[in-house]
Amino acid sequence: MEYKIGLLKGDGIGPEIVDSAIKVLEVIGEKYGHKFVFTPYLIGGAALDATGIPLPEETVAGCLASDSVLLGAVGGPKWDTLPGNLRPEKALLGIRKAMGLFTNLRPAKLYPALKGECPLREDIVAKGFDLLIVRELTGGIYFGDRGTTMMEDGEHAYDTESYSRVEIERILKVAFESAKKRRGKVTSIDKANVLDTSRLWRKIFHEFAEKYPDVEVADMLVDNAAMQLVRNPSQFDVVVTTNMFGDILSDEASQITGSIGMLPSASLGVSTNGLYEPIHGSAPDIAGQNIANPIATILSAAMMLQYSFGLLDEADAIVKAVDVVLNKGYRTADLAHGAPSKSTTEITDLIIAEIK
Ligand code: IPM
Ligand code: MN
Repeated sequence: MEYKIGLLKGDGIGPEIVDSAIKVLEVIGEKYGHKFVFTPYLIGGAALDATGIPLPEETVAGCLASDSVLLGAVGGPKWDTLPGNLRPEKALLGIRKAMGLFTNLRPAKLYPALKGECPLREDIVAKGFDLLIVRELTGGIYFGDRGTTMMEDGEHAYDTESYSRVEIERILKVAFESAKKRRGKVTSIDKANVLDTSRLWRKIFHEFAEKYPDVEVADMLVDNAAMQLVRNPSQFDVVVTTNMFGDILSDEASQITGSIGMLPSASLGVSTNGLYEPIHGSAPDIAGQNIANPIATILSAAMMLQYSFGLLDEADAIVKAVDVVLNKGYRTADLAHGAPSKSTTEITDLIIAEIK
């Protein structure tokens, strides 16, 4: 079969890590007899430099016409002073919205090989953890009305959060269905002691849960959740939450896996065309040095094979190869703490050797 993959390499380390994932996909293609056709499109700072806007129409059209899209990262100091609507990050929100990707799956687990990298206490590490953050991705405060005004006492700015029943129910459905395939527990995270959006969210969560009597449910305030993630992460299976809380908690979850360079993500809508990207950013400080950890992006490519193409054995081959390479003790700089480490291309080649 032939699969059309749109590439959004973006900025900073984006191009290097996407190149690693392409190499891995090509080897998968050879081994299992698939053809992956890659077409690059401009996004973020790279698009700004070339066209003056962060998300050209051609990019949106190209992504919509692809079978799936792989993204590196966007943003960097060069574009940080631009007004909000011209910032590279705006392009990422724009493409998520244009593709209708209301679901963001962010799995975070402790690899046995990386137990030494986990900053938590030994007894917590011993229990391990394996959780899936289901983040709502096209609503909430990220997309609400915002603005700046001048008032008598000076400048004001505002951002608004709004969630509809439809938006809440469709993300809850993803969370409950995911839990059925995992350990059967969903924790919904909100700030229902303060926010109306959270009170609606929590009410619908408990209503919705009645359709899934076999799934254990819990709700939790976001401040407590931030604490529980480092206190007792093994209590979580599926975590479902809003766009903003999911953004914040997934960075926290990444740190207890050892490195943010390990966490992949899948952004999905109603069709099989999804957007796959590492949860980390463009890391401009290490760009172009061949030292970035490509594993999050390589695992994102594995999620693409799984969720967009239904190629489960192929996805599994990538996940297993990453496991073996970590078990053999190979580390990129982010995980090596100054000890000798492998470069971006070296770790990629080690993973490829295991797949072969
Ligand atoms: C992420 C990123 C983005 C987000 C930024 C770059 C807009 O932090 O994917 O987690 O906040 O969604
Ligand atoms: Mn983030």
